[in-house]
Amino acid sequence: MTYINISTLQNWKNKKNKFAAITAYDFSFARLFENAGIPVILVGDSLGMTIQGHDSTIPVTVKNIEYHTKAVRKGAPNVFLISDLPFMSYYEISQALKNTSKIIQSGANMVKIEGGKNLVHIVKELSNHSILVCGHIGLTPQYINFLSGYKIQGKTEKGANKIIEEALSLEEAGIKMLVLECVPAILSKKITERLSIPVIGIGAGNHTDGQILVMQDLLGITEGKKLKFTKNFLLNNGSIQNAIKAYIHSVKQGIFPDKKHSF
Ligand code: KIV
Repeated sequence: MTYINISTLQNWKNKKNKFAAITAYDFSFARLFENAGIPVILVGDSLGMTIQGHDSTIPVTVKNIEYHTKAVRKGAPNVFLISDLPFMSYYEISQALKNTSKIIQSGANMVKIEGGKNLVHIVKELSNHSILVCGHIGLTPQYINFLSGYKIQGKTEKGANKIIEEALSLEEAGIKMLVLECVPAILSKKITERLSIPVIGIGAGNHTDGQILVMQDLLGITEGKKLKFTKNFLLNNGSIQNAIKAYIHSVKQGIFPDKKHSF
């Protein structure tokens, strides 16, 4: 695969070429995903649940993210690699700069942070230091106690307007990509059309520029109640390699997520 950078992704947005992203946490899966054609990998703090077995992302540390970012980068040298800044690791400027530098030095191209207007000053400062920042709004798992559970966001007009305002403020502050999680498809369509940067959705319908899934959900490994927006691509595709290729194809064609997997 040729090396993917932020201009590649911006060009895809401009040309309306949809792209697929996936989480990964280790060398072996990262290598397999890159070889199957995945252009964007996220070392998500979902590793708190998928790797560490916690019931939220809150216990994840910067050291954890550094460790997994290094492993993933070794397996996938050419993908555009985003890594999460974990819970409470970026609310003061000096802390955000220190932790971002550790994560970028571990091999990430971009850091992702959860929150809206409260983060505008952080985004501006990181951007002034030429750091690529991805915003994450809608359902923000780091705020799980405040949100009282993993629920769809932006269902009311007031809630939807708040999310639109957050997206616009973050873009103005300097984010170069946005993740929208668990919002109605109609809302993510509006946001994707209004922003000039790439918007990646998860549980946000199929109007976004890109889609992302947690790898365990995509491979049907996640136990318990199935989330509406996830799909087990391994079920009908025989091998992990084929499942990833089917996922990439479905996203590019706008087949996934369909109505059944959207809000
Ligand atoms: O941590 C994560 O895996 C994420 C995705 C759900 C977007 O933030």
